[in-house]
Amino acid sequence: MYEKINVDLIRNSGIRIVDLRSDTISRPTPEMREAMYRAEVGDDVYVEDATVNALEKRCAELLGKEEAMFVVSGTMANLIAVMVHCNQRGSELISGDKGHTFKFEQGGTAHIAGVHTSIIKNNDDGTFSLDELRVKIRKNPDMHEPVTSLIIVENTHNLCGGKVVPLEWLEKVSNVAAEHNIPVHMDGARMMNAAVYLKLPPSRLVRDVDTVCFCLSKGLGCPIGAMLAGSSSFIEKARRVRKALGGGWRQAGVLAAPGLVALDSMVDRLQVDHIHALKIAKAIYATKSNNFKVDLATVQTNIVLMFIDRTKIEIRELQRRLQTVLTTDGVKCSVRCSSLSINCVRFVLYWEISDEDVDMACDKIQLVIREYDDRLKVGY
Ligand SMILES: Cc1ncc(COP(=O)(O)O)c(C=O)c1O
Repeated sequence: MYEKINVDLIRNSGIRIVDLRSDTISRPTPEMREAMYRAEVGDDVYVEDATVNALEKRCAELLGKEEAMFVVSGTMANLIAVMVHCNQRGSELISGDKGHTFKFEQGGTAHIAGVHTSIIKNNDDGTFSLDELRVKIRKNPDMHEPVTSLIIVENTHNLCGGKVVPLEWLEKVSNVAAEHNIPVHMDGARMMNAAVYLKLPPSRLVRDVDTVCFCLSKGLGCPIGAMLAGSSSFIEKARRVRKALGGGWRQAGVLAAPGLVALDSMVDRLQVDHIHALKIAKAIYATKSNNFKVDLATVQTNIVLMFIDRTKIEIRELQRRLQTVLTTDGVKCSVRCSSLSINCVRFVLYWEISDEDVDMACDKIQLVIREYDDRLKVGY
């Protein structure tokens, strides 16, 4: 039987907890906390918070857009973008079927924005078919049809394992959109990981989209926040919507200050997370297991997807086993991961996960895989 693990107890018992459920777990760095303490603040609804203003200006420049706006979360940034772009009743947006906005934001685009979503099957690399996109766009919608008002792309693509979508594809999406005068929004929650992977400035990655958001609170380590960027007229409308949603900041400089630290010191280091992710993926691959699979080619950034044979392995039990340290374990390590579906678990890397954590996590994952493989071989 498994030894039941209490996370609070094991923290003090020499057992290492490697929490790879998400990069949202990352905590602010000491430098960020210091910057929060010292931040100059004002009322941001009056656009008088100097630190927020500095962060917004910096992000607009970084992204090559006219203006940027600080918001509480990636979800709010995407929702605001949808509400601004799809401001006519009876609007529709087009998204990949694995898009975060479609799958994980509680259907807010429908129940808050009142916007219909039309989906296209995502390819494994986060793209979708341009032919299908052309078909899905309603050219001259008659009164039975919604009006296609927005196309959403995601980069990196979370459910596709943190894949960086090809720039050529983004350009083609933008060309199709332009033919029909439809804007493109990028959910770039982890676009800084994509920029680091491609070794390109962020502005190049978003050259072909009208609006973009990225998260400060994931791999960049900030306690909270996301940035939304686009043209000045888009941001002017976005500020109104943000206020209506209750997202009008007051002295938000204390929250914007870590964002500035992150842009200075946390972007280039994302490379370390990518190296760690690949190391974990290679450790899984090295087991040559028939029951646990990883596609090394898809591991480009800070996410690893491990696929299991769901006819033999129950995902919750696997998560419990990775998290549990048995008295018989040679590896005193508790690994936490999230499940994306009944046959897939996700490991996500961030700045607090050290080389040593990764080594221990690799050993633990391999130990559990071998244990399952042995058990399944003899059929009990
Ligand atoms: C691709 C993507 N977009 C948007 C979000 C939403 O971000 P937030 O959790 O800040 O609302 C997430 C969160 O994990 C995400 O992975």
